[in-house]
Amino acid sequence: MQNRFIISRFIQDIDLDDNSILSKMKDSEPTIEEAQRLGRFGQKLHLADDDSLMSETEFIQRSLEENQFWLRIMMEHAFFLKAGLPHDATHLIKQTDEFQRIFEKQLERSFETTRDPADIEALNQDTIMLTHKITVFKEKLLNDTLSGRVRGFNFPLLLEHVRREAIYFLKTIKQINSRIEKPIEDDIVEENVFFLNIMAEHSKFIAHLLDPTEETLIRQARAMGQEFDVLLYQARNIQVEPPSTDRLRTQLTISKGATLELRNFKEQATKLVEQAQVRSAIDPRLASHITREAGKFLSIIDRLEERIH
Ligand SMILES: [Fe+2]
Ligand SMILES: [Fe+2]
Repeated sequence: MQNRFIISRFIQDIDLDDNSILSKMKDSEPTIEEAQRLGRFGQKLHLADDDSLMSETEFIQRSLEENQFWLRIMMEHAFFLKAGLPHDATHLIKQTDEFQRIFEKQLERSFETTRDPADIEALNQDTIMLTHKITVFKEKLLNDTLSGRVRGFNFPLLLEHVRREAIYFLKTIKQINSRIEKPIEDDIVEENVFFLNIMAEHSKFIAHLLDPTEETLIRQARAMGQEFDVLLYQARNIQVEPPSTDRLRTQLTISKGATLELRNFKEQATKLVEQAQVRSAIDPRLASHITREAGKFLSIIDRLEERIH
């Protein structure tokens, strides 16, 4: 059972001022060489009883999928952070420009990489390095904002949110690169806890970025935020009680229903924002960004439902 909670323990312990983040991750997980050996010879040297290895096809498929989705998200975060910075923060603005450029480049690379496992591994390794850098940047910006050293329009919760998404991306790519499939129970609980929180926060951001006169939409967005807070509370409870398969299945069904509803709401909001039919400070690109993240959660729920059946 060694590998089961390594990632979540790691995330809790993480200290992003400490630049040894990558070596910490390396210490606690099998090396690529170990994982390759496991794949080639089928030896279960580091596997717990309920761990399993991904097939090569799955490794390639999942690596490309995650890179192609999250690299675009990271690129857009750089853009959103820049938009919220004061115009005299020239050094920070330059850094966000640089992040936008390097993530765009890495995103292009993820579409051009061959399906050779060694190339995919190299892509993942570089993605880990770049994502680590932007995570440290987000952490610093959060601390500087909280202490008043940087003023602007990036809410602290938004900074925490984009930092958490970067940590999640790091964790996911590392997991895939180890080729070890998490036990289904952990997979379901961890994905739900992460994404339900993200969905709750999206609803809260929408409520705050709408013009104060848009009372009906603000009420709807707040109600959704509260609904996802309750779902998150329930999903966290599964972490402390041994979950039955039925309980896990129900969790997936409930998360799916609520997320479908939220995605529809976001799609409508995106259209209203694009057509300037609603008063808000919401950038249409931000509306589209959070709509895609809801779609990502839905595709993860589909994958988990397939695994559990
Ligand atoms: Fe995001
Ligand atoms: Fe998000």
